[in-house]
Amino acid sequence: MSIATLVERLFPGSRRELITGGVPVSDLAGRFGTPLFAYDAGVADARWARLRAAVPAECAIAYSVKANPNPAILRRFIARGAGLEIASAGELQLALRAGCPRDAVLFAGPAKTDAAIEAALQERIGEIHLESVGEARRADAIARRLGVTAPVAIRVNPAEDAQGGAMRMGGRSAPFGVDEEALQDVIAVVLSRPSVDFRGIHLFSGTQILDYTVLLRQYRKALAIARSVAARYGVVVRTLDVGGGLGIPYFDGETELDVERLGKGLEELVGRCQQDPLLASARIMLEPGRYLIGEAGLYVTRVIDIKVSRGKKFVIVDGGMNHHLAASGNLGQVIKRNFPVALVERLDEAPKETVDVVGPLCTPLDVLARDVRLPSAKIGDLFAVFQSGAYARTASPLGFLSHASPAEVMVDDRTVTLIRRRGTHADLFHDLPDTGELPAVTTPRAS
Ligand SMILES: Cc1ncc(COP(=O)(O)O)c(C=O)c1O
Repeated sequence: MSIATLVERLFPGSRRELITGGVPVSDLAGRFGTPLFAYDAGVADARWARLRAAVPAECAIAYSVKANPNPAILRRFIARGAGLEIASAGELQLALRAGCPRDAVLFAGPAKTDAAIEAALQERIGEIHLESVGEARRADAIARRLGVTAPVAIRVNPAEDAQGGAMRMGGRSAPFGVDEEALQDVIAVVLSRPSVDFRGIHLFSGTQILDYTVLLRQYRKALAIARSVAARYGVVVRTLDVGGGLGIPYFDGETELDVERLGKGLEELVGRCQQDPLLASARIMLEPGRYLIGEAGLYVTRVIDIKVSRGKKFVIVDGGMNHHLAASGNLGQVIKRNFPVALVERLDEAPKETVDVVGPLCTPLDVLARDVRLPSAKIGDLFAVFQSGAYARTASPLGFLSHASPAEVMVDDRTVTLIRRRGTHADLFHDLPDTGELPAVTTPRAS
C-alpha cells in the first residue's frame, strides 16, 4: 500500500512531516525517545466505529487481545462496547483489570492450563472455547471441583480452510480447534457432563483476509456446522463465533477490506439464523484484532549509522525485528515483502536511492525494509514503519540482544499519553534470583 494513500487516509495534516493524532512524530520521538510505538486513538476509534456500523447490531464484537494487549487500547475498545477475546491467563488478568464486563470475555486458544481454566471459571467469564476433547474433560473436572458450571463453545477446525488469508489455521491438521469430522467425540463429553453448559460453535480459520467473500464463506460454513450440531444433538446454539481474520492492506496491490459488504452479508446470515428454529437463539460474534488496531500504529526508529558494503547501502536504525518481527518478514511471511515505510520528516521528498533498512541485531534476518526507495537518509533521521498497531511489539522477540524494550504512546487529538514506559537496563535483571546475583555454580573438579 503506498505511503501517500496511507498518509492521506490515516494521518491527515501531514505534509513534509508525518503527524499522528495532530502531533508531529518528531515531537514524540524527542519526548519519549526511539524506538517507539505511537498509536493514533482517532484511527482506532474510526476503525471501531466503521466496523460497528457495518456489522448488524445483533452481532457482538470482541477485540482479540493478542493483537495488541496494551491496557489503554483494551480500555478504549471496551468503552465503545467491545468484548474481549483472550488466549491466556495473562490476557485474562489484562481483560479484568481493563474493566471488561466478565460475561463479555471469551477464552479461546490452545494449551489452556488447569490454572488458567480455573481462573476463568472463578472469574465467571462469558465462555471458554474448547480446543480439544481433553480440554473438555479438564474443564468439566475443574468446574465440578469448584462447584460451578463451565459455559463452553467448541472451536471447530473446518474440513476446508478459508482461501485468501495470509496465515491459514484450518482445513488441515492443526493444534487449533476440533476437527469437523471428529466433533461427535467432544460433543459427547460436553453433553454428558452436567457441569458443562454447551453454548455454541466457534470457527476461525485464517488471519489477514482482505476479500470479504472469503470471510463470508467462512461464516456460512460456521453457520452450517452450528446448524448440523443443533439438529443432530438437539442442542440450543447461543453463540456462533465466526472468528477474526479481517485484514488490512500492507503491501503493493492490496486494497482495503470492504467491511460494508461484509456487513451486508452478515445481515443476511443474521436473517437466516432468526428464521431458522434451530439457530434462532444464536448470536453471531466476531473477534477481530488486526483490523481494529493495526492501522493505528506507527513504529518509529532513528538512523544510527549508514554504510555501504560491496555496493549495497545499509541504513541502520535503533530498532528492528526485536520489536517488530512482522515487519522483518519473519512472522508468517514466506517471501519478505516490505511494510509501508518512510522517513518521517521527509515525506515530500522524492526517493533518491535504494537501500536496505536494518535493525540493530546481529542477524541478517533483521531487515525492516529491503531494497526500498527512499530520499537519501542521514544519521539522526527518523524512520517509521506504518501498519504497526497489531502483532508488532507483542509478537516480537523483545529480549533478543538485550536492547531496551520500546515505549508506547497513545495520541488522542493532540493529547499524548505514555501507555508503556521504555524498558531500562534494570529490567534485564528484574526476574533474576536476586537483582543480578546468579546462584553459585559448582564446577566439578577435574580428576
Ligand atoms: C482464536 C482467535 N481469534 C481471533 C484472532 C484475531 O485474528 P485477527 O487479528 O486476524 O483478526 C486470532 C488470531 O490469531 C485467534 O487465534
